[in-house]
Amino acid sequence: MERVIDELLETRFNKIEYVSKTGSTNSDLVARASTLPDGFLLVSDYQTDGRGRKGRKWDAPPARNLIFSVFLHPKWPSERHQLITPALALATVEVIENLGLRASVKWPNDVMIGLDNHMKIAGILAEYIQQKNPALVVGMGLNVGWPQSNDSAPPNSTSLIACGIEKDRSELLVEILKNFEERLSEISSEKGNVTFRQAHIAKSSIIGNHVKVERINGDIIGKAVDIEKDGSLVIENKDSTISITEGDVVHLRKL
Ligand code: BTN
Repeated sequence: MERVIDELLETRFNKIEYVSKTGSTNSDLVARASTLPDGFLLVSDYQTDGRGRKGRKWDAPPARNLIFSVFLHPKWPSERHQLITPALALATVEVIENLGLRASVKWPNDVMIGLDNHMKIAGILAEYIQQKNPALVVGMGLNVGWPQSNDSAPPNSTSLIACGIEKDRSELLVEILKNFEERLSEISSEKGNVTFRQAHIAKSSIIGNHVKVERINGDIIGKAVDIEKDGSLVIENKDSTISITEGDVVHLRKL
């Protein structure tokens, strides 16, 4: 962890806590939200109660994967808060591609790899904290050493090791957070939401595809045609064109 601290010294992520085990790094930061500084980073080797989106669990065996959360005081307009998840996803895609693998972002929060982008390698959970000084907690689980081919794991999940890549978790963390800092600066800048949108679309695994989006307010089936400046996904079908802010995307087929 000392190397991580040195490497991140010049970034906003230079307040770092490491715990070998906790319930959930996201829950920890949410609980401490009134006292934490911008950029606070919590890394853990193991979560006993790791949380995914929509109340799902996020499991990984001890010390095999990269598990962390960061705490942010957003310095951008509130309509850009949704960009935080793809910003971390894009930061991660860039690191994975530098390792020689093809990677993409599956709206809104998954990092996928493989030629047809159907294997999930990382998940991201962002939470907004409404308080005097509003905050965001964003956490990621990146599958580094688990699962391997014989491990029992959620369907369509994979890891760097299963793709033949052995890479130190600390190095990955440093590289991801350096990229993430650049993306945060981008979305804080005046026209950053425009350039970010282009980068997001360029690395999206779903634009142009026929998809089903499973939402709280009912499923939508159609073609994923665009991602808007605020991160919303635009779905077009014969009845309408709808801009959506939440949901799980299921690929149907390439059009
Ligand atoms: C998902 O794909 O549903 C999101 C998974 C997010 C998992 C990470 S692991 C670190 C942080 N702490 C948590 O409890 N969840 C996130």
